[in-house]
Amino acid sequence: MGASKRRKFFLIDLYGTAVGKKYVMALTGVIGIGFVITHMIGNLKMFLGKDAGGVYAIDHYGEFLRELLVPILPRTVALWLLRLVLIGAILLHLHAAFSLTVLNRTARPVKYQSARDYQVASFASRTMRWTGIIVLLFLAWHLADFTAGWANPGFVRGEVYRNIDASLSRIPVAALYIVANIALGVHLFHGTWSLFQSIGWSNPRFNKWRRAMAMGVATVIVVGNVSFPVAVLAGIVKV
Ligand code: HEM
Repeated sequence: MGASKRRKFFLIDLYGTAVGKKYVMALTGVIGIGFVITHMIGNLKMFLGKDAGGVYAIDHYGEFLRELLVPILPRTVALWLLRLVLIGAILLHLHAAFSLTVLNRTARPVKYQSARDYQVASFASRTMRWTGIIVLLFLAWHLADFTAGWANPGFVRGEVYRNIDASLSRIPVAALYIVANIALGVHLFHGTWSLFQSIGWSNPRFNKWRRAMAMGVATVIVVGNVSFPVAVLAGIVKV
């Protein structure tokens, strides 16, 4: 048997264990956090308005992403490769989360007889499943809103700034964005905290830093992402 085949089996075997699934949760979670932070920084360009050429900075940025690595690769190919990494990470994150739940249930077929002691499990950790589902439903809406345009009557392909204004100036939609991004923040707070646990970095000495890191990631994302619907409603971002 070749070394690469053995290695492949090793990875599949590892994924069969609870620890392996936790590694996958951690790795795919880091990919997700990386995307969400980069996406938030990209969206901040809406505050720059138009550039010297009279083009909205955020429209320019959208075009830059579609043109990534041209002419080494044809237009949008690099973007699609990045999208595939993201789709793969989301599917693996969901699969690992689902099968870890099944593993936990089979490890404890009899329900807890007394009320669970929730003092040890924080609010964020108990609600991971629900905040995850909210983020997933939000993502489906979000792609219909800004990528396909089905959920946005004012949608014009390629005109990102206009699409943001058209979508988020609807109060119920702005409210949906605010609620979903707070749910995302709660999810990321516990996710960032527990990913250190999954890779074995849990020690009273740096738990203070773990907490600070988790709080930092969640706060930056919530403040950044909630600022977008608020800016549209306040007329700061306006066509
Ligand atoms: C208020 C917060 C957000 C705003 C204003 C926003 C805005 C946008 C816009 C305008 C696009 C289309 C870009 C283009 O066509 O060039 C987009 C795409 C996307 N957004 Fe967001 N977004 C927000 C939050 C999020 C969050 C929290 C997630 C993930 C949980 C997310 C995931 C995505 C994905 C996956 C795409 C598709 C990217 C692609 O097609 O390549 N967004 N977003």
